[in-house]
Amino acid sequence: MYSLAKAVLFQCDPEKSHELTLSLLAKTQHTPLAALYRRPIANNPVSVMGLNFANPVGLAAGLDKDGECIDAFAAMGFGFIEIGTVTPRPQVGNDKPRLFRIKPAEGIINRMGFNNKGIDNLIENVKQSRYKGILGINIGKNKDTPIEHGKDDYLICMEKAYAHASYITVNISSPNTPDLRSLQYGEALDDLLSALKEKQATLAAAQHKYVPLVVKIAPDLSSAETEQIADSLLRFHIDGVIATNTTLDRSLIFDLPHAHEAGGLSGRPVQNKSTQVIRELAGYLDGKLPIIGVGGIDSLTAAKEKVAAGASLVQLYTGFIYHGPGLVHTLARHL
Ligand SMILES: Cc1cc2nc3c(=O)[nH]c(=O)nc-3n(C[C@H](O)[C@H](O)[C@H](O)COP(=O)(O)O)c2cc1C
Repeated sequence: MYSLAKAVLFQCDPEKSHELTLSLLAKTQHTPLAALYRRPIANNPVSVMGLNFANPVGLAAGLDKDGECIDAFAAMGFGFIEIGTVTPRPQVGNDKPRLFRIKPAEGIINRMGFNNKGIDNLIENVKQSRYKGILGINIGKNKDTPIEHGKDDYLICMEKAYAHASYITVNISSPNTPDLRSLQYGEALDDLLSALKEKQATLAAAQHKYVPLVVKIAPDLSSAETEQIADSLLRFHIDGVIATNTTLDRSLIFDLPHAHEAGGLSGRPVQNKSTQVIRELAGYLDGKLPIIGVGGIDSLTAAKEKVAAGASLVQLYTGFIYHGPGLVHTLARHL
C-alpha cells in the first residue's frame, strides 16, 4: 500500500505531499481508518537514559513538528516519537519552495526554517494524544530572537515541555536558522548547557520527575569540534546526544537536480558522515552517555552500522519517506 501512496505523492510538490499526508493522518488517527496503517508494535525493548523503549527505532524530529499525528505514527510501530522542532512563538519558516527531493540519491534538501505553530499549540496536541510511549520534544529558538538571547527561547520551551515529555532535545544543529549552529561551540555551548541543566534541576525538584536532556548535533563537525562537544556534554552531565542533523555537504550529489538548493541534506548522502560522527563521539564519550543515531538509515544494514558505531537507539526521517512503515517494522524487529 505504501508503494501506491508513494507513487501518487511523489508526483506532487514535496511540501504539498507532506501537508496532505499529515492532514490525512491527523484526521484518521482516531477513527477506524487508522487500521489501514496500524501494525503491532515490535516488542524489542531497550532501556536508555532510564527510559524504557518498546523498540529502538524512533521517528526523527521535523516530520511532525507540531505533534499533530502522534497517535498515527505510534500506530505505525515506532518505539519512540520525537516531535518539533518547536519554538516559543509560532513562525512561518522560510519562503517556499523550501523542500526538494533528490530522488536518485534517496535524499532530501530542506530549508524549512522551523515552521511551527509554537510551543503552546504543541502541548495542547500532546494532551489530546492517547500515546503512552516515549515522546521526545525537540526545542529551538525563534528566528527573530537574537542569537545572544537564544538561551531564553530554549528555557521557555523547556519549562512548558517538561511535564509532557519523556525527554527533551535541544536542537542546536539546524542549518536553516541563522547562527543557530554557533551554539555548538565553546563558551556559547557551555553557557547554554549550564542554564538548561540548572532549569532541569529546578523542574525535576518541583515536578518530582527527571526528564533527560539530549543535545542534537550537526554532521559537519571536525574531529576537534566533536571532541570539544563531547567534553562539554560530559562536563554538564547531559543525558544523551543525537547525531546527526542534516548536512551542508553536497559532494555526494553535486551533479544531481536541486543539489545546489540551500539547506540541509538528509537521507543516503548523509549516511556515512553521520555514522563517522557517531563513531568519533562514541570514542570520546566512552559509554558515559548514550548516542541516538540518525542520518540516512534506509535499511537494516545501515541501522546496524549506526549501532556498531556506538548508537543505542536510531531514528528515521528520509528513509521513512522513501521506504515507508515497512522499514520501521524490519528495523524494530531485527535491530
Ligand atoms: C524536511 C525535514 C525537516 C527537518 N526538520 C527538523 C527539525 O525541525 N528539527 C530537527 O532536529 N531535525 C530536523 N530534521 C532533521 C532530521 O530529524 C534528521 O536529523 C536528518 O534528516 C537526518 O536523518 P535522515 O537522513 O533519516 O533524514 C529535518 C529533516 C528533514 C528532511
